Amino acid sequence: MTKHIVTTDDDPAIRKILQILLRKEGYRITPCQNGNELLDMLTHEASDVDLILLDIKMPGLSGFELLEIIQHTYPRIPVIMLTAFNDLDTGMKAIRLGASDYLAKPVPRETLVSCVKRVIMESESNQEADDERSQDIVHQKELEENLQTALLALKNTTLATLEAFSETIEQKDAYTKGHCNRVRNIAVAMGKALHLSPESIQTLEGGALLHDIGKIGISEKILNKPTSLTKEEYAIIRMHPIYGERIVSHIDLFKAYEPIIRSHHERMDGTGYPDGLKGDDIPIEVRIVTLADAFDAMTSSRAYRTALPTEIAVEELKLCSGTQFDPKLVNIFIDKEIFLL
Ligand SMILES: [Fe+2]
Repeated sequence: MTKHIVTTDDDPAIRKILQILLRKEGYRITPCQNGNELLDMLTHEASDVDLILLDIKMPGLSGFELLEIIQHTYPRIPVIMLTAFNDLDTGMKAIRLGASDYLAKPVPRETLVSCVKRVIMESESNQEADDERSQDIVHQKELEENLQTALLALKNTTLATLEAFSETIEQKDAYTKGHCNRVRNIAVAMGKALHLSPESIQTLEGGALLHDIGKIGISEKILNKPTSLTKEEYAIIRMHPIYGERIVSHIDLFKAYEPIIRSHHERMDGTGYPDGLKGDDIPIEVRIVTLADAFDAMTSSRAYRTALPTEIAVEELKLCSGTQFDPKLVNIFIDKEIFLL
């Protein structure tokens, strides 16, 4: 395709010579007499211009002023500056300000032609590199979007798996229908009220759904027993956090939920099980699920008793604040009215 060169020089003789020499080389030439004419021309046809030859000393806008405007507005178009004979300093200044090259007048034909050819070629290869970079950016964006979609799909699948697991637990114990899901809702609401990180909230969600997974390993006869448990039966029930941890230890995806599963029956005063952990040794996510679990258990009917009214359950939480439950969490649970969920 014919390359389009715009020359700008106030000297009609120079304009003419440049036009003749470059047309002979097969270029299309648009001569401009001054800066305003050049800028006007660029406003309409910049995308069609492959090179600008620019005189430095002109009435009106100088070559340097024009160079700055072109650099800013049309950075894709290369500029060769024309300087007075032997004015090396001005030529170097032009390069420093972003011109692709400079030529001293009067310009010998060979020098002009080889300089123009080289600058156009360099500009083309720069343009290609820019295009490649833009394509890379678009491609990278596409990859990122695909990754986001895949992560979302994975998250939904994981959540569906967790829900399926929690349903399995509930099927063993008719009285706990919906319990895991309610514990999850309370725990997530608590996490949000505490401004926990998205990762912590995700841990709360999965951990709440799975906290009693160990009950899968306990006989339904014991789980659903309507009368008081014997010492031996109670000892078996107390094993469910350990069974649960063992079950999920085989699944990498569930690693983050292990502390909640193992420690949700620990108490702030250290009298809980299975490890007798105390206070801050119990991770915050675990303390949240412990409270959510206990509150929902109190307000649901069980094999051995009917549901407590909400206000009585809230009083119970207050009574056990500091011994069984984290007082800070009890306060937030009440202040934010999370018990109304
Ligand atoms: Fe439990």
